[in-house]
Amino acid sequence: MTSLDNLLVGQSGPMREIKRLIELAAPSTTTLLVQGETGTGKELVAQAIHSLSGRVGQLISVNCSAIPSELLESELFGHEKGAFTGADKLRAGRFELADGGTLFLDEIGDMPLSLQAKLLRALESRTIQRVGGSKEIEVDFRLVCATHQNIEADIETGKFRADLFYRINVFPLTMPALAARAVDIPMLVEAIIKRIKKESKGANLPTFKDSAMSELMRYPWPGNVRELRNVIERACLLYPGRSVENNDVRNNLLRIKAPDPVEEQEALWMASADFTAVDREEESARLPLPHPSHYEDWFSYFDNIDLRRHLQDVEIVLIEAALQKSGGMISTAAEALKLRRTTLIEKMKKFMIEKPS
Ligand SMILES: Nc1ncnc2c1ncn2[C@@H]1O[C@H](COP(=O)(O)OP(=O)(O)OP(=O)(O)O)[C@@H](O)[C@H]1O
Ligand SMILES: [Mg+2]
Repeated sequence: MTSLDNLLVGQSGPMREIKRLIELAAPSTTTLLVQGETGTGKELVAQAIHSLSGRVGQLISVNCSAIPSELLESELFGHEKGAFTGADKLRAGRFELADGGTLFLDEIGDMPLSLQAKLLRALESRTIQRVGGSKEIEVDFRLVCATHQNIEADIETGKFRADLFYRINVFPLTMPALAARAVDIPMLVEAIIKRIKKESKGANLPTFKDSAMSELMRYPWPGNVRELRNVIERACLLYPGRSVENNDVRNNLLRIKAPDPVEEQEALWMASADFTAVDREEESARLPLPHPSHYEDWFSYFDNIDLRRHLQDVEIVLIEAALQKSGGMISTAAEALKLRRTTLIEKMKKFMIEKPS
């Protein structure tokens, strides 16, 4: 097995094709755009491209949707000393850190329009300017972009610049959904269990009967490989040292039906109490929230923040967006926000938010 096979597990037709394209593109400096549903392995592709590229620099990743847009510009391009209040020292941006290596711009579809222009210039000239600086700095970077959104649709609505799209879409790669390569599932399950075994040093792990494996291969996997990984981790907790059957998969692992006997429920409880990390990860996979830790650096750029007002602004934007999405249905919007209906109504009154007509 090559290192690529270790990184990207799967020998189905679509996966073999993806790996062939990765091997083809990696040694060049071509810009790649990796598209595909959530959890299909886009970030792994970026790692594979970098490690097969032979480039000596580092792989620098930036998640454009997780960094507040006010911070993203200086994160990417760096800033000069005194560029803005609080910029008390010069700081190199991620472009400079990726010099000689690979820059991975994840969720590029979320890049604000104002920055798209600056990115386009950097791509065309292969030089950057730090925020507050006028010097052109040459950077030798290889760009890999990823998105789970439909950028073509964003071009239509004016959210994404067409000229930038053509610049980054030089070598497109679309990761197939897991359901489209179900034959890879047994191999993936084996690889995931092997990894857990290594991490958990000697824990008793489950085995999957053929019937259980067929059940896994039938499921549509909306969360793709990430969801499969979560399910296997759950199996390791619920069925240590046991053999998993198709009913276990259907009733307790994929939870299509309501959980059955009390003891199974208790086992689930105990297991999830021990393993909140999995739950939290699952939760965050479903809810693409910017990670709060991205605010940790706030005060290296700014002197202060009106915290109460900022949190209120976030509330207002999310409430309006939820109401927009629900077409003005308060109970649906409340569900989307995980609020009680009455709480949402109170908040709408407080912030004077009207239902969209
Ligand atoms: N072919 C694969 N072989 C082994 N592990 C995989 C494969 N594809 C994905 N994974 C694993 O699944 C998880 C999700 O993969 P990754 O983060 O690359 O997905 P993604 O497409 O970037 O998702 P998102 O759009 O949500 O960011 C990771 O833990 C990754 O290691
Ligand atoms: Mg990703």
